Amino acid sequence: NKIREAEAVLKEFGVRVKPIAVTKTEIQHNSLEEIARFAAIQVYTKVRTPVAVEDSGLFIEKLNGFPGPYSSYVYKTIGLKGILKLLEDYKDWEFRKATFIAVIAYALSENNVVVFKGVTEGHISFEIRGGGGFGYDPIFIPQGSIRTFAEMSIEEKSFYSHRGKAFRAFGEWLIKNSDILSKAKEKSL
Ligand code: IMP
Repeated sequence: NKIREAEAVLKEFGVRVKPIAVTKTEIQHNSLEEIARFAAIQVYTKVRTPVAVEDSGLFIEKLNGFPGPYSSYVYKTIGLKGILKLLEDYKDWEFRKATFIAVIAYALSENNVVVFKGVTEGHISFEIRGGGGFGYDPIFIPQGSIRTFAEMSIEEKSFYSHRGKAFRAFGEWLIKNSDILSKAKEKSL
């Protein structure tokens, strides 16, 4: 799903995405940036070519930012129903504020990592809605829309989403820095 979303955005910049299957460590850390940075360097040392790793999380205001960096574990354990249950006493829309954050760490070498961040504010819906997307998409409604991410096409989700914003910043950087990129690629060959 993440690859599909990255492709939808990066094609606008003439950039193709090549997924690679490499095992990486997802460290336990409060910062998405540190998690992505660590994994990008680790993967770079294995593949020795510039590589991007993306890490994301959902931060719910009334739960003090939970599940945040633990979003993946929480999704697999309590799931969407568990999150809705934790918020069941918060009937007021304002109490259901949440933020999605995506961080892309692009390793050009072991000690040169560029980071891009995308942030999308929104609310947790009252019920699970929509059949598209993945993860928390059926319960997240971005600011400016009345639909959940799961009720949108990839293009529409990317317009609003944390990942769309992060990959647009990455795409712009790639265009501006094509010379740095060619040098890093030459070095890695
Ligand atoms: P990770 O970045 O793969 O660690 O993802 C963290 C968790 O957040 C996973 O459970 C994903 O399913 C979820 N997640 C990440 N991005 C999105 C998104 O765009 N929509 C919905 N859930 C997401």
